[in-house]
Amino acid sequence: MEISRVTRTKEEAGETYNKLSKWYDLLAGYWERKPRDIGLRMLGVKEGEKVLEIGFGTGRAIISLAESVGNSGRVYGIDISSGMHEVAGSAIMKADLSERVEFICGDAIELSFETNFFDAIFMSFTLELFDTPEIPIVLQECNRVLKKNGRICVVAMSKRGKAGLMMKIYEWAHEKFPKYIDCRPIFVEEALKNAGCKIISIKKMSLWRLPVEIVLAKM
Ligand SMILES: C[S@@+](CC[C@H](N)C(=O)[O-])C[C@H]1O[C@@H](n2cnc3c(N)ncnc32)[C@H](O)[C@@H]1O
Repeated sequence: MEISRVTRTKEEAGETYNKLSKWYDLLAGYWERKPRDIGLRMLGVKEGEKVLEIGFGTGRAIISLAESVGNSGRVYGIDISSGMHEVAGSAIMKADLSERVEFICGDAIELSFETNFFDAIFMSFTLELFDTPEIPIVLQECNRVLKKNGRICVVAMSKRGKAGLMMKIYEWAHEKFPKYIDCRPIFVEEALKNAGCKIISIKKMSLWRLPVEIVLAKM
């Protein structure tokens, strides 16, 4: 079973999320919170750790990660959208956590961090925005910047199992409006295994009858 391709450009991705940034929490925040929080619990970030979030959006997970690492840890976030950067930046300021957080605005296909730098990486509803040939590249980069035995938790729409009606409608909409519906279901566990990860635990749930996989793995 093939996963759909992502046909919009990176510039279009940035523009779409810039437009969405002020409304994102209203439109999607409520629905995505539950799987994101499960993923954060599974990742279990501890005080003093160095953590990266790829595709931080409005910064909800970054706040939680910054609280977990405490004063001795540090959280880094990378996102392609300058609009999301602004929204997340002010959320972090409001939470008085700016000292623990560093944001980068750019494409996560390349990570400007040293090898063996992070204890943990978090990605929620972002891996499925990379085109099919890019997914292994992003995960290889994660593998490179994670310390030995570093953890990665990916929350993503899942292609596992038989596609129900909602999934068929969703995938049709993705093909028809690729610029706006750029998320599509992927094989999360397989992608992580192919990148050389050891799977630790998997949780499955559904959002609007669309399957979601939350996978914790070790590099
Ligand atoms: C669907 S949103 C999810 C946001 C957040 N993780 C959450 O769960 O609420 C995807 C985020 O990934 C970012 N993004 C998309 N493509 C990216 C890329 N190539 N590199 C870095 N960030 C990207 C978008 O700007 C957006 O903020």
